[in-house]
Amino acid sequence: MKGIVLAGGTGSRLFPLTKITNKHLLPIYNRPMIYYPIQTLVDAGVRDIMIVTGGRNSGDFLRLLANGKEFGLKHINYTYQEGEGGIADALGLAQHFADGQKICVVLGDNIIEHDIREAVETFQAQESGAHILLKEVPDAERFGVAEVSGGKVIGIEEKPKRPKSNLAVTGIYMYDASVFDKIHTLVPSHRGELEITDVNNAYIAAGDLRYDILSGWWTDAGQFESLFHASQLIAAQRAKEARS
Ligand code: G1P
Repeated sequence: MKGIVLAGGTGSRLFPLTKITNKHLLPIYNRPMIYYPIQTLVDAGVRDIMIVTGGRNSGDFLRLLANGKEFGLKHINYTYQEGEGGIADALGLAQHFADGQKICVVLGDNIIEHDIREAVETFQAQESGAHILLKEVPDAERFGVAEVSGGKVIGIEEKPKRPKSNLAVTGIYMYDASVFDKIHTLVPSHRGELEITDVNNAYIAAGDLRYDILSGWWTDAGQFESLFHASQLIAAQRAKEARS
């Protein structure tokens, strides 16, 4: 399976922190944000990784990560997103890299406590379709929200005012090669972007989307509160590791 980290966007919700750098280069406790999603993939056994980035600071990723030696990798692939097309648009740029294989996609600002190896292995054994990871949250209206019935996700709404559940769709997605055909059929949402939620709803319509509930804590880091919270979670985890 191939891994893709999506690290583009303007990070406008973090202005002025993101005025002169890319959101994914900001610190989370003692490391740049992008380190965490890369580590998530490496810990799950995914070693063939592409970073999709964009904007004025894209060259900094190459200087920071080089060929991924710090993660035990021999090589990292990079591609460049022009403009602000959204998450699904950024993913579409990885079609050539995916080369017909299954992919595990991690949003560059998603940070987790445990590893996702089991979910990746389950998906590897799955013949086709998509596999997403859900997490109970107190503030579901900030995320894509899944409606689950009879053990299946029957619909996902992007940032609904009145969420139908407390299950957020985390930014970790596993897809078969049909994801790129699905992306080609998407139309921009009201915010002018191709939405990853529409990709997932296309899999639901095809009856081919499964899910797990993510264990351990999960946070994004795209807003001041969550950026701060992410550092606190990592600091606490490091302190715990130091004690044990
Ligand atoms: C994106 C997705 C949303 C998902 C979230 C996870 O939102 O659109 O469905 O729940 O990532 O972090 P964003 O925060 O990029 O607007």
